[in-house]
Amino acid sequence: MSADCQHPPLDLPAIKAAARLLEQGRLVAFPTETVYGLGADAENPAAVARIFEAKGRPSDHPLIVHLSPQADLARWAADIPDEARRLIAVFWPGPLTLILKRAAGIPDAVSGGQDTIGLRCPSHPVALALLREFRQGQGGIAGPSANRFGHVSPTTAQHVREEFGESHPLIGCILEGGQSEVGIESTIIDLSRLSSHGPVLLRPGRLSAQEIGDVLGCAVALPDRAAPRASGTLDAHYAPATALALVPGDQLAQVLQELIAKGRRVALMHHSALPADAVSRAILATIRMQDEPAPYAHDLYARLRTLDHAGAELIVVETPPASSGWEAVNDRLRRSAFDSVGVLSRLLA
Ligand code: TXA
Ligand code: MG
Repeated sequence: MSADCQHPPLDLPAIKAAARLLEQGRLVAFPTETVYGLGADAENPAAVARIFEAKGRPSDHPLIVHLSPQADLARWAADIPDEARRLIAVFWPGPLTLILKRAAGIPDAVSGGQDTIGLRCPSHPVALALLREFRQGQGGIAGPSANRFGHVSPTTAQHVREEFGESHPLIGCILEGGQSEVGIESTIIDLSRLSSHGPVLLRPGRLSAQEIGDVLGCAVALPDRAAPRASGTLDAHYAPATALALVPGDQLAQVLQELIAKGRRVALMHHSALPADAVSRAILATIRMQDEPAPYAHDLYARLRTLDHAGAELIVVETPPASSGWEAVNDRLRRSAFDSVGVLSRLLA
């Protein structure tokens, strides 16, 4: 077991107080095993509206509803296919979000007007305790990642404070829960269009399409144009303020050399060895990542935040391997980088 899995004892008074704040319609930031969430009572449209206001997120973007393991799924989803039950039995609590047909009584606000709903039961002990305490375990906590729209997601309570300030008028409290173990957002599987499309992967995460397909006994389709809107699937997302460019390992030395020769202020994130030379010394900040996808994902957002503060014009990231297991890391980095070619040609002009 890694040190991250050994959570400190639960601060139950703080968790109970947070549950009461949620019941009063306030926002609460809380840890999950993927990233920190900014929670509101999913059945209170005014509370849900505060999430969009605090994040600066367009209100037609649907939110994930977090449920306790005891929750009555039928209250949230109109149809619970056998595929959903099988995935829930294997992967909940855990980093898997299921998109299902929305139940009639669930407010429009939470699903951005779509007829579906994203549901997930997180495994972080603080999130589980909060969900058990909130509305006696029968409520749902709508919760996007606790960052401003488009920014890098938070994996510590301190990151949430960096996003929203020490005391934000809309946020009742920020629950502490250490560093998120997974470090990137949940895998999202759409089961709302099974008869026409089968299961569809909307966002890759720690749980791979392969692992999910193995449980379902069929292949999981990759995202298609007809997929429901998902803000985490916009081309530009998860971005630090500093421009970010992905550069393949075999071009890294040359690109860095050219940038330094142009007098550009560069920060670097890489995972393979770099020659220690004059170019490396001219780089403002260098972070070497692990060369396995799970520890890389665990560190990714925190390291991007560190490099974002290095005073660089550009964060160069060595393109991670394309091999299996790296899909989620590559997905997030592609969206953070968005326009690597354009950024590089501007800085090298
Ligand atoms: O790991 C996670 O999923 C984290 C933690 C806090 O649980 N939450 C998270 O939420 O990443 P957010 O809002 O940052 O990303 C949720 C993604 C968005 O891309 C959203 O559009 C998509 O889920 N989503 C939510 N409900 C959906 C629905 N009904 N149909 C399609 N996509 C949906
Ligand atoms: Mg997000």
